Amino acid sequence: MLANLLAVGGALQLAPRLFTGFVDADVNRLLGLDAEREAALELVALGPDGSPAPPVAALDEIGHPTIPLSPSEVDYPLLREIHAASMLTTPDDVRVWRRGGGEGGGVEGGAPRPVVPLPSPRTASGRGLGDTIQRRGSTRQFGHAPLSGVELATVLWAATGDVEADVPASLVDLYLIVNAVDGVESGAYFYRPEDTALEPIRAGDLRGESAYLCLEQPLGGDAAAVLYFLAPLDEILAAFGDRGYRLANLLAGIAGGRAYLAAYALGFGATGLTFYDRHVVEFFSPHAAGKDAIFVVALGRSAGAGRATIVGNSILPRRPSA
Ligand SMILES: Cc1cc2nc3c(=O)[nH]c(=O)nc-3n(C[C@H](O)[C@H](O)[C@H](O)COP(=O)(O)O)c2cc1C
Repeated sequence: MLANLLAVGGALQLAPRLFTGFVDADVNRLLGLDAEREAALELVALGPDGSPAPPVAALDEIGHPTIPLSPSEVDYPLLREIHAASMLTTPDDVRVWRRGGGEGGGVEGGAPRPVVPLPSPRTASGRGLGDTIQRRGSTRQFGHAPLSGVELATVLWAATGDVEADVPASLVDLYLIVNAVDGVESGAYFYRPEDTALEPIRAGDLRGESAYLCLEQPLGGDAAAVLYFLAPLDEILAAFGDRGYRLANLLAGIAGGRAYLAAYALGFGATGLTFYDRHVVEFFSPHAAGKDAIFVVALGRSAGAGRATIVGNSILPRRPSA
């Protein structure tokens, strides 16, 4: 939803700006939310800056009658605990939060590494945004037809675009497994947005490994390319405190949502996937050592009527060497 909102806001020249730091209880109260069941996650400002709002007198409590979101509620106490532990309680907390991050992740030290350049992304063609959002879904079965190098380059470019926000928004790194992309050798890579190029990590047919990493789901092996969003969580938590965990997930979610939109704009498919957290990091290490896996999006062409070939168990349980 946020990726869609940022895209539409940008297209309408409303300069969308993301606010990740706010006094949670005040915003929840303003919206009349029952904060045990529902809570504000982030704010998006749209339109030009106006004059500052006048000071607000104490607001009356809002208690909308609401229809239950679900006929049978499932409680996740841990989720509520995480949310409560990452709240900001005063305007001073918000000011400290905004000063939190330095330059963020993605900066690799040491000797320059070889890179594989990608073709220029297609930035001005494909489906219109409204049509793309209408059609955007999650592909349920990929065939093995390849993507073009331009298609992959365009998705990577879209996923890693700037986010106008109250904190640095480049805290998530993009690793990928390429299974079938014309002109790009199959293998594992790190994406360098500043060069729009791939840094090779491991060459070879990795469909089995990719399916395994994606919780042993065939989608992860049948996809033409699988994007793994990783973040240096320890560093983010050190800089931002517990709310940094929200931030890492939020930014990976935006990047993943943008990858979805780019795929559907270009006429192929995508799906979010769940994954074995630790094995993903091990697979991309030593490059990814110290980072955490946050989100995965697989890309490819829908299988249509034909069943893809990777489902056989012989290929799925192959564990990556630890
Ligand atoms: C965080 C996240 C994790 C997901 N994990 C999986 C998964 O492990 N397997 C799967 O088949 N689909 C997965 N999906 C795709 C969802 O099943 C799909 O988005 C959902 O069914 C809604 O369908 P739609 O995207 O077509 O609207 C995931 C989606 C998200 C956003």
